[in-house]
Amino acid sequence: MKKFLILTLTLTALSCSDKKQPNVELVQDMMVTPGVKSQRLDEGAPNQSGNRLPPENTVRVGYAPYPYKAAEMDKAAKELKNPLAGDMSPGTLMVGQKYYETNCLLCHGTKGEGGEKSSIAAMMVLKPPTLLSEKIRGWNDAELFHLITMGRGLMGAYASHIPQQYRWQVVNYVRHLQKESK
Ligand code: HEC
Repeated sequence: MKKFLILTLTLTALSCSDKKQPNVELVQDMMVTPGVKSQRLDEGAPNQSGNRLPPENTVRVGYAPYPYKAAEMDKAAKELKNPLAGDMSPGTLMVGQKYYETNCLLCHGTKGEGGEKSSIAAMMVLKPPTLLSEKIRGWNDAELFHLITMGRGLMGAYASHIPQQYRWQVVNYVRHLQKESK
């Protein structure tokens, strides 16, 4: 009993002696959990990845699945409505500008003038067209939204780059650029 007491006291003293050191771990069960980083291989998981697949037929909270396929632009054009139609307020344009400048500028230019001269265009067979053309001015907002969401040809889809709730602001920002250039 005496020995046990001395041992306990010594261990207690040891574990408290230096606050910068971790305590002495007597019972180690569950102290170190096998944490797996999200991008790592996890052989025990069904998809072999640290990132678990969401259960089938589930969606993230606040996420509305996009109901149109890439080729269904005409359908989207008729059915989708811009909830921010004509909104050129600084708040809307600032969000649009932020996402435009992060994702579109490098190809379509600061003012939407197209990417003939951009450094990336030099590497592309098809140069990124201007967004200020009569053709794009004639598109409705939904068509622009659809193209940003699904991409076309050499232009990739931007659905995963521009969150759903900020995509209409990008559409309005393109409209703003078109107005500015008149
Ligand atoms: C990597 C370069 C690149 C980026 C980045 C890019 N685009 Fe494009 N974009 C293109 C190319 C190339 C085309 C022509 C695609 C085709 O017709 O095959 C195009 C086509 C378009 C068109 C149709 C133009 C027309 O005359 O038919 C619109 C509108 C457009 N892009 C808007 C955007 C917006 C908005 C963004 C940012 C969310 C963006 N693009 C990002 C390269 C790019």
